[in-house]
Amino acid sequence: MLVALSAGGCTGRRDESAPEGFRPGAPGIGDPYFPTYGNGGYDVASYRLQVRYDPATDELTGDASIEATATQDLSRFNLDLAGLTVSSVQVDGTDAAHARTGNELVITPATGLGRGDRFGVRVRYSGKPVPITNAELGSGGLLHTSDGAIALGQPESASTWFPVNDHPLDKATYQVEATVPEGLAALSNGVPGGSSTDAGWTTWRWAERAPMASYLVTLVIGSYRVSTGTHAGKPLVTAIAADLPAGGPAERSLARTGEIADFLATRFGPYPFDAYGGIALADSRIGYALETQSRPVYGPAFFTEGPNLEVVVHELAHQWFGDSVSIERWSDLWLNEGFASYAEWLWTEHDGGPSAQARFEQEYARTDWAEPALDPGPSEIFSRAVYQRGALAVHALRRTVGDESFFRILRSWAAEKRDGNATTDELVAHAERVAGRQLRPLFDAWLSGTTAPPLP
Ligand code: ARG
Ligand code: ZN
Repeated sequence: MLVALSAGGCTGRRDESAPEGFRPGAPGIGDPYFPTYGNGGYDVASYRLQVRYDPATDELTGDASIEATATQDLSRFNLDLAGLTVSSVQVDGTDAAHARTGNELVITPATGLGRGDRFGVRVRYSGKPVPITNAELGSGGLLHTSDGAIALGQPESASTWFPVNDHPLDKATYQVEATVPEGLAALSNGVPGGSSTDAGWTTWRWAERAPMASYLVTLVIGSYRVSTGTHAGKPLVTAIAADLPAGGPAERSLARTGEIADFLATRFGPYPFDAYGGIALADSRIGYALETQSRPVYGPAFFTEGPNLEVVVHELAHQWFGDSVSIERWSDLWLNEGFASYAEWLWTEHDGGPSAQARFEQEYARTDWAEPALDPGPSEIFSRAVYQRGALAVHALRRTVGDESFFRILRSWAAEKRDGNATTDELVAHAERVAGRQLRPLFDAWLSGTTAPPLP
């Protein structure tokens, strides 16, 4: 029996509208480190986000259209949304009941969604975004700045400005249309779709056509020097905060983006995305850089002592390792950070600095083998071990299988897992297949062993 529910109603009772046997989607996607991140029961294909943001009031107004497929018979499902007020939810054009519990938006469609059904969700919402603070990992989310806003963070950020299945396992395409006061820029991921101004507000359009993990979505609003060009036939957009000096170290470093991406392509295979770029911030509250897809964002601290190419190399290497090939769970973050850190060693050697072997020996000598790179615990996902011990493991693999096999492993891994997700076990199996030998003990020793492995 189908019973119409009134929009905005409570969803705490039995979902009488759904057929027998239809169940709520899980409120988390199943990541042991962060059980509430993401949701179960559906798979998102695309997000179209129309947001208006007024820096004068810090007020955001959003209209999100999400296309998804049910992966079970669903009576209701959740999206992640932190703060903000939802004014309406529609599923396939029909008003749906919605409620909030913590950072979850619980949506009960008027009828159940059968496994395999494709459905559209539209959420209209507004409010002042509040970043999510995490004592160990720092804060993430839409941060109000003196001239605009910066939406950035890892492992969490997206749910502070749009409703989302907030976990890297559910990658999707994105269209972002951001409307901001005329005179300000609004930058996001992917290919620029131009901007238009109406009655004092400018709408900037962006499209990321390759599947993207939600933590890699950025929105940067403010006074920026935006430069739009092309590189290797694809758009290259860089934006430098107006408060940073023209021709200064940040600008000079980001100007090397195309050249560095080309260098990495000689090692890892073709650049995986439709656009290039980078965004340099002036707000010192952002103390890190992040590999936001196709257009990394750089905090100001990296460029206080002159140009810094290693950070550009690191974030661009993530375009292959992290962004195109994404983790399935956060305990595997070394797959991103180990390879991105190793890319710095490759660049430094190429640039006439110390060899990768020299960096390896130096890092080996200072490693605390009590700290694992794999499965370091939720508070340690950005630990030195994840980055440096991860890079040591990559170089140990190289020394063990030889350069020819090693670069064949990297390139075929990036190609086969492109636009997807992967695990450490899959990397080990892949390396064993390509190299034609057992490598599990090697990875175990370098990633997780508690004593120094013998030098390969
Ligand atoms: N993935 C980023 C990088 O290695 C680091 C992000 C650090 N995040 C944080 N919340 N501190 O480039
Ligand atoms: Zn990194």
